[in-house]
Amino acid sequence: MNDNVEKPWGGRFTEPTDAFVEAFTASVTFDKRLYAQDIAGSVAHATMLAKVGVLTDDERDAIVAGLVVIKTEIEVGEFEWSVAREDVHMNIEARLIENIGDVGKKLHTGRSRNDQVATDIRLYLRDELQACVAELTRLQIALVDLAEREADTIMPGFTHLQTAQPVTFGHHLLAWFENLKRDHGRLTDCAKRTNIMPLGAAALAGTSFPIDREYTAQLLGFDAPTENSLDSVSDRDFAIEFVSAAALIMMHLSRFSEEIILWASTQFNFIELGDSFCTGSSIMPQKKNPDVPELIRGKTGRITGNLMSLLMLMKGQPLAYNKDNQEDKEPLFDTVDNLRASLRVFADMIPALSAKHDNMREAARRGFSTATDLADYLVRQGVPFRDAHEVVGKAVRLGVDTERDLAEMSLAELQGFSDKIQQDVFDVLTLEGSVAARDHLGGTAPAQVRAAAQRARQWLSAN
Ligand code: ARG
Repeated sequence: MNDNVEKPWGGRFTEPTDAFVEAFTASVTFDKRLYAQDIAGSVAHATMLAKVGVLTDDERDAIVAGLVVIKTEIEVGEFEWSVAREDVHMNIEARLIENIGDVGKKLHTGRSRNDQVATDIRLYLRDELQACVAELTRLQIALVDLAEREADTIMPGFTHLQTAQPVTFGHHLLAWFENLKRDHGRLTDCAKRTNIMPLGAAALAGTSFPIDREYTAQLLGFDAPTENSLDSVSDRDFAIEFVSAAALIMMHLSRFSEEIILWASTQFNFIELGDSFCTGSSIMPQKKNPDVPELIRGKTGRITGNLMSLLMLMKGQPLAYNKDNQEDKEPLFDTVDNLRASLRVFADMIPALSAKHDNMREAARRGFSTATDLADYLVRQGVPFRDAHEVVGKAVRLGVDTERDLAEMSLAELQGFSDKIQQDVFDVLTLEGSVAARDHLGGTAPAQVRAAAQRARQWLSAN
């Protein structure tokens, strides 16, 4: 249907829209996803118009009943979406008029698609934010559970991906918990600014009808109406904030994924990833590939890309609404879909990950990971740290040459580097001694991991 008589704005036009322009400017193919929010917004708007006397109660009832029917038509797949009707808003409005007649033409009194679409997106994102927080929380719980079980497990800690010092696996997992805790805060913070209602701004300046915006906001469960009509129809900060928080979450999941991929490799061999989270190769029969973390690492790129899209979308726009804004939806929807899916699969994957304790321990033992402990020991015997560092460096050199760890040297050999070394040095050269010694808030000692897991659980029950 390419006939401007059909367009609600067709009055001032004499020529029909070019067929390709019609398709080019339409958004219904993707914004139909907002149908439930659009209908909820229209029901609230009509209810408010009746309250202030712009509609009669009968007119309101006819409109609300008509909208309920349309919602059902959409949900059972009987609604015919039309590109000629441009977007979700005009599709629903046109259908309403078809179904209930002239009274349907009164629904758009005192509003515009500009405040309508801004309201729809906020309603949509408000719900999606909750769903994302729920998935994130599920992942955090999985991490704390595993961290508690692995509080005593020793693995090498890395800097520069070189063995640095022994840490406990539980401590390592809780590092990711802390990252996700900040992400959780960002999402809940963004939710506060999202749940504000633009409806009533109309096209850009407000409306000459005596609308009651507080009432509409209350009907829709918004915390408050927005303060400025021009800002209301042009602001997409809330969506950018969300996608920014999503990009950070994905960056964290991507880093964690990278570790899981490394740990699952034959070379590290620190973990076994459950078969149900891996796939095989069509040519190499021995392969078991960590597709899930790889895909999450990959999806991080598109979500960061979505953030760039939205920032660039907004940067040149003067006030107030511009058609550019129609481009906000696809990056936002894509971010929601991929973030939710990534969080969900990650939360499911964590319990399917089993640690190979012996391999982790052996790797920690191999890389002179207790060298700092020997230096600290010498400091406690009165040797200045820089001198202690030098002494231990020489001992490590001998270890490299003779392919032995510090703990495998004899007391006499170690005393050759410093006469301050006594038999009790072997207590600090063990991996268990090393981790247990870091027994303060934020340290890797098993006792600290258990305490941190306790605090994490308290945080989870309060948030
Ligand atoms: N489909 C449009 C969007 O997504 C709705 C608002 C259109 N407003 C307008 N004046 N053309 O932004």
